[in-house]
Amino acid sequence: MGEVVLAAKVTHVPSMFISEQEGPLNGIRKEAIEGLKRIGDLCREREVDTIVVADTHWLVNAGYHINAKPDMSGLFTSTEFPHFLNNMEYNYVGDPELGQLIADTATKNGVTTLCHHEVDTLEVQYGTLVPLRYMGIGTDIKIISVAGWMYDAELEESKIVGESILEAVRKSGKKVAFLASGSLSHRIPPNKDVGDYLFKISRPLNQQTDLMVLDMWKQGRIKDFLEIMPKYAEDCAGEGGMHDTAMLFGLLGWDKYEGQGEMMTEYFPSSGTGQCNVLFPVSTNAKSQQDVHPV
Ligand SMILES: [Fe+2]
Repeated sequence: MGEVVLAAKVTHVPSMFISEQEGPLNGIRKEAIEGLKRIGDLCREREVDTIVVADTHWLVNAGYHINAKPDMSGLFTSTEFPHFLNNMEYNYVGDPELGQLIADTATKNGVTTLCHHEVDTLEVQYGTLVPLRYMGIGTDIKIISVAGWMYDAELEESKIVGESILEAVRKSGKKVAFLASGSLSHRIPPNKDVGDYLFKISRPLNQQTDLMVLDMWKQGRIKDFLEIMPKYAEDCAGEGGMHDTAMLFGLLGWDKYEGQGEMMTEYFPSSGTGQCNVLFPVSTNAKSQQDVHPV
């Protein structure tokens, strides 16, 4: 039987790409990059076959969508932050078989989902590409990108998609890692101010709420978090409406999940938004998780 062997909420801030470059901003996102590298190392240690990424930079207007085309290579420039993230080379291999199984399972469970693996020109967004870059993922591990920014969908639907990913993985016989790629609060400051906010949060209320949420995750108070998630996503402008996070907890067992989040990168503000890397133990391999809901 297949299994989910790793689950995490991860950052994809383009300033990590800047951090790589020579110049005054070299190294500014060292901790975020190191956190992602550790998550990548865990994927390799746990012999992951496929990484599924819920990408809050992939906006869809109707239905849920999956990109699992076999050739995921190219040169990426962000249309949102072209000055931060441009000409980034990538070379990944998609997993059309698992992508289709996830789409079929989610559709069967009531959320219409399409897997695209014959549309060569369907671009992969940077919510997928940036974490994989710093995790050091090569062509030996396959990838799948799931749209994680819904124009007008219920979080309940994304919960079902998360549950369906788990169901499909179990049928697949594969070892899978799941990444919810998105920030905590996500208020980018007004244009005239944003240049001053590379290392600052946009609103103190957002930071305090983000830190409260991280405490809930670290303490394993997932049921409490899920009760506030819709309001939190709305009031703190959760990235992509936090559909990535609804998928994550759907996959982990929702309010039955009893694991405690482990910080891989401590909280940091970036262009006004709240960011982190947090690992959520799964029962198959974490050390201290005898009571964790099995996934
Ligand atoms: Fe983002």
